[in-house]
Amino acid sequence: MYLTGEEEKMYQGEYGETIKKSMEILVALGDIYQAERLVNITSAQVSGVSYKTIGDAGLEYLEDLARDTQARTRVASTLNPAGVDLEKWEELGFSPEFTTQQHRIVEAYGKMDVMTTCTCTPYLIGNVPLKGSHIAWSESSAVAYANSILGAMSNREGGPGALAAAICGKTACYGYHLPENRKSDLVVELECEIQGTDYGALGYLVGQTVKEGKPYFKLKNRPLNDNLKGLGAALASSGAVALYHIEGITPEYKDALPEEADDTLFVDRNNLEEVKEKLSTTSLKPDLVCLGCPHASLEEIRKVAEILKGKKLKNDLWLCTSINMKTAADRMGYTKIIEQSGGRLVFDTCMVVAPIEELDYEVIGVDSAKAANYVPSMCGLEVVFDEIENLLDLD
Ligand code: F3S
Repeated sequence: MYLTGEEEKMYQGEYGETIKKSMEILVALGDIYQAERLVNITSAQVSGVSYKTIGDAGLEYLEDLARDTQARTRVASTLNPAGVDLEKWEELGFSPEFTTQQHRIVEAYGKMDVMTTCTCTPYLIGNVPLKGSHIAWSESSAVAYANSILGAMSNREGGPGALAAAICGKTACYGYHLPENRKSDLVVELECEIQGTDYGALGYLVGQTVKEGKPYFKLKNRPLNDNLKGLGAALASSGAVALYHIEGITPEYKDALPEEADDTLFVDRNNLEEVKEKLSTTSLKPDLVCLGCPHASLEEIRKVAEILKGKKLKNDLWLCTSINMKTAADRMGYTKIIEQSGGRLVFDTCMVVAPIEELDYEVIGVDSAKAANYVPSMCGLEVVFDEIENLLDLD
């Protein structure tokens, strides 16, 4: 792979051990994927944060890195959700042992100037790359959003790769960084209008079908931004979709239609209902409802507050979001309404990366296909996938 003079110096260790190691990661990735060069990035988004997923080995690796004063990010870099709500962890029932380790991980990232925002929706809190800009993001749902809705260019980076890119301000130029690799390979035509959990079900169905492909959707009705958040998350979890296009909606759709578009997947109401049924593992009522996968927008929080206003919840509710949205929800009075009904706004974490299996819950209710896909395997709990109104048990 070609390196500029400056990159060569970074690679040879002239700027310290951490930059050298980070360049080695980028060059190794470039070699594997036959990149011809590196490309400058404008932002990074780093996963590998929850103590539940990275454990002591990950913690030690990060603390080692953070000791080197050269290990500082060169571009705006935000962090994925952690394993606990960093402030209300005790109230939610998380152990001090887990939380101590979790705080150490977040602090290590903070020392490296990764902004400890702890959210999977960085695009809702100011990490908003422009169309055509190169970025290195690692949360799969956020990568799908950045590529598809914003028109930025990112591969699905692993946590260490995204951190290396953040430290070097560069990433290997292959895959979705090349315009020729951003065209669709399958048309998906909807035969019915969709809303609510239909988007997640559609994403789950198509992700399973196309795997790493790039679907081109022809929808019958216009989606909301929050619908697309859920669609991309589902596409990226049942498959490995990092980029999709929607006719008339997403920024690159005009150049994305496959020329030999003889392959079309038609999706009707029955297909979506079948997926929804499959995503629930039980017909029992959820004892905990977890919303906000990906992390809730302020509008989603507002809608939940509207449903709950003046009512009492019989099951527990976590509405997962970023600290930024939580702060805005406090100001708008939404937090108070949700708490008065017995629910909670939970920030920094989510139902999948938190050790929720250590709490006393058996059935988790979710309106996200990604969460429905992961809760049984990552938490070992039963899951019910349904619309918010059906999940909430209200007095
Ligand atoms: Fe975000 Fe957790 Fe879902 S990281 S996308 S809320 S599984």
